[in-house]
Amino acid sequence: MSAATPAWGRAQLDAWDRQQAAYINRREDRFAVMLDVLAEVAPADAVIVDLACGPGSISDRALRRFPGMTCLAVDYDPVLLALGRLALAEHGERVSFRQADLWDPRWTEVLAGERPHAVLSSTALHWLPADVLTRVYRDVGEVLRPGGLLLNADHLRQPGGRPLFEELGRRDDAATQARDHAAGAQSWDEWFATIAGHPQLAPLAAERARRFAGRPANPDLSLAFHVAALRAARFREAGPVWQHLDDYVVLAQR
Ligand SMILES: C[S@@+](CC[C@H](N)C(=O)[O-])C[C@H]1O[C@@H](n2cnc3c(N)ncnc32)[C@H](O)[C@@H]1O
Repeated sequence: MSAATPAWGRAQLDAWDRQQAAYINRREDRFAVMLDVLAEVAPADAVIVDLACGPGSISDRALRRFPGMTCLAVDYDPVLLALGRLALAEHGERVSFRQADLWDPRWTEVLAGERPHAVLSSTALHWLPADVLTRVYRDVGEVLRPGGLLLNADHLRQPGGRPLFEELGRRDDAATQARDHAAGAQSWDEWFATIAGHPQLAPLAAERARRFAGRPANPDLSLAFHVAALRAARFREAGPVWQHLDDYVVLAQR
């Protein structure tokens, strides 16, 4: 097996992107919309937080598109943090991967006093229970600069009593997985087995299992819940800027 070099990390990040895209039909469109909003509103030298970053898909795209920006990439998974550090090594000091658990109210300490211009997140905040998500939005509101942005791309629960909308979402998910897996994308389990099987990352997989043991299932919160929580966290505007079935990009301005 090849050494865990930056080139190996980059190949695994590419495989991660293909693997994630099999679960999210318009994943690249979501990223593009988030970065289009940044292009309009954030300064060219903005500091961005990539919240629950995984191996750094948002950071990588933001750093390529905006040569003056820097990213603080925050996650609690030691395997994905290690992979992100390898895969994004080419960006040098423009990206810094930091370890924090969003369940811990002190998670903002890893920002070391930095006041970001924007906090971006994708396919991650749905794991947080309502009370933790509400507090994380408050925390983000406190660390952002005035006028700063939160952009969250995620699957959100459809409002009740809309079986057709739910069915269309299920069919779209099934068709996307069938298409991408037939084209060679790995499942999550296959992808993770490769990473966790690497001798340099295997020890971190056990620590990852320990950290996430006993965490509750996806609480399946709605767009209305997210918008209300953002408004309660004193964001002056909040709402979707993009939607594909039950997949949204939510924008909020502090
Ligand atoms: C499906 S991945 C998405 C990663 C990346 N944003 C992307 O779109 O490729 C979900 C991420 O949320 C992170 N996560 C889940 N719960 C977390 C928590 N309590 N604190 C920090 N990160 C968390 C996971 O470790 C994982 O990296």
